[in-house]
Amino acid sequence: VETIHCKTYGIFFNNWEALSDLFQKGVYSRILVIVDENTELHCLPIFREKMPFPFETIVIPEGEAYKNLMTAQFIWDGMIQAGADRHSLCINLGGGVIGDMGGWTAASFMRGMDFIQVPTTLLSMVDASVGGKLAIDFKGLKNLIGLIKDPNAVFIFPEFLNTLSPRELKSGMAEVLKHGLIQDKGYWEKVRKYKSGKAIPWDEWIYESVLIKKAVTEIDPMERGLRKILNYGHTLGHAIESHSLEHDDDPLTHGEAIAIGMICEAFISARKGYLSDSDLHQVTSGILAVFGKGKKELPAFKYLKNSLLKDKKNKGGSVMYSLLEKIGVACYNQEVNEADVIASLDYYNALDFNPNS
Ligand SMILES: NC(=O)c1ccc[n+]([C@@H]2O[C@H](COP(=O)([O-])OP(=O)(O)OC[C@H]3O[C@@H](n4cnc5c(N)ncnc54)[C@H](O)[C@@H]3O)[C@@H](O)[C@H]2O)c1
Ligand SMILES: [Zn+2]
Repeated sequence: VETIHCKTYGIFFNNWEALSDLFQKGVYSRILVIVDENTELHCLPIFREKMPFPFETIVIPEGEAYKNLMTAQFIWDGMIQAGADRHSLCINLGGGVIGDMGGWTAASFMRGMDFIQVPTTLLSMVDASVGGKLAIDFKGLKNLIGLIKDPNAVFIFPEFLNTLSPRELKSGMAEVLKHGLIQDKGYWEKVRKYKSGKAIPWDEWIYESVLIKKAVTEIDPMERGLRKILNYGHTLGHAIESHSLEHDDDPLTHGEAIAIGMICEAFISARKGYLSDSDLHQVTSGILAVFGKGKKELPAFKYLKNSLLKDKKNKGGSVMYSLLEKIGVACYNQEVNEADVIASLDYYNALDFNPNS
C-alpha cells in the first residue's frame, strides 16, 4: 500500500527507510522515543533493530489511568533530562495513550517540537494517530485538556499487531466496523467478516480505514460538522463504557462499549425512520458476529443519563447523536429523546445472546 498524503504530513506504511531518514539526515538535535511498559517490551526491540541509531527513551506506565498531568510532567522532565529542545523530535511508539500524551507534551514543550506517531494498537493505527486530536484526562474527565495539532508524520507497521492481545485487537475492530458503517458499504461488507484468529490482510484494512478517517477529518478538522459522524456509536457507547468502568469487575473495553453503542444507535436510526429494518438487522447481526453480546443486560437509562448529558457534542442541554441513514451513510446533530434511548436499550437487552442461534 502507498503513502497517504495529508495536507501537511504523510502517513507511511511499512516504510522503515523513510523513518530512518529522520535519524540520518541530522536535522534533529535529539530524538526521543516515548513508550509504555508494554510497548517497551514488545515494540521497542523491533524498533531498535530497524533504527540502530542513538535516541533517548522515556518509559511510562501502561494504561488510561496514566494519561494525566502527572505523567505529562514526568515526560517533560524526561525531555529536559535528555537535553531536548525545540529542534528535537519526539517519536510516540505505542497505542492511543502514548500517541495522545506524547503528542500533547511534545506540542507544548518549549512551545512545540516535532513529533511523529508510530501507532502499535489497531485502535491507534486506524483512529487515534490520524486527525490531530491530542489530549489528556483531567479530574476524571476523559480528554478534557487537549488541542488539535497534526504530527509531522505517521508511520504504520501492522507487524506490531502481532503481540497485541486478541481482546485489544478486537476492540480496535469496533472503529474499523464504524468506518464502514458511516462511509463505505463495500468496506463494511468486507470487515464484518472479521474472526478472531483468522488471518486478516491488515495492510489493506488499515489503509482503507485511515483513508476514511483522513477524508472526514480533513474536510472538518475542528469538528464543526461532518467530523461528528466519527462519533457514531460513541454517545451511548461512552455512557455505557463509563458505567462499566465504575461498576464491573472486568469492565468493557472501549471497542466493546462502542460495539453496543453502535447497535443501540442503529436501532434509534431505524426508529426515527432513517435506517431500513433490513439494514438495522444487518448492522446488529454483523456487530454481534464479531463481538457477541458484550453485556447481557445494559444499565437502566437513569444510570446513563448523567454521562449522556456530559457528552462533548451536546449543545445547550440537548444530547446530540450521529446516526445512520443507511449502511455507508451517516448524519449528525440529531436530537434523540429519552423514549428513543430507552427503547434502544430494550432492543439490545432482548437480542439473542448467540448471534447464530
Ligand atoms: N486522538 C484521537 O483522535 C483518539 C482517537 C481514539 C482514541 N484515542 C485515545 O486512545 C486511547 C486508547 O488507545 P489504545 O486502545 O491504543 O490504548 P493503549 O495505548 O492504552 O493501548 C492498549 C494496551 O495495549 C498495550 N500495547 C500497545 N501496543 C502493543 C503491542 N503492539 N503489543 C502488546 N501490547 C501493546 C498498551 O500498553 C496498553 O496496555 C484512549 O486514551 C483514547 O482517548 C484518541
Ligand atoms: Zn472510539
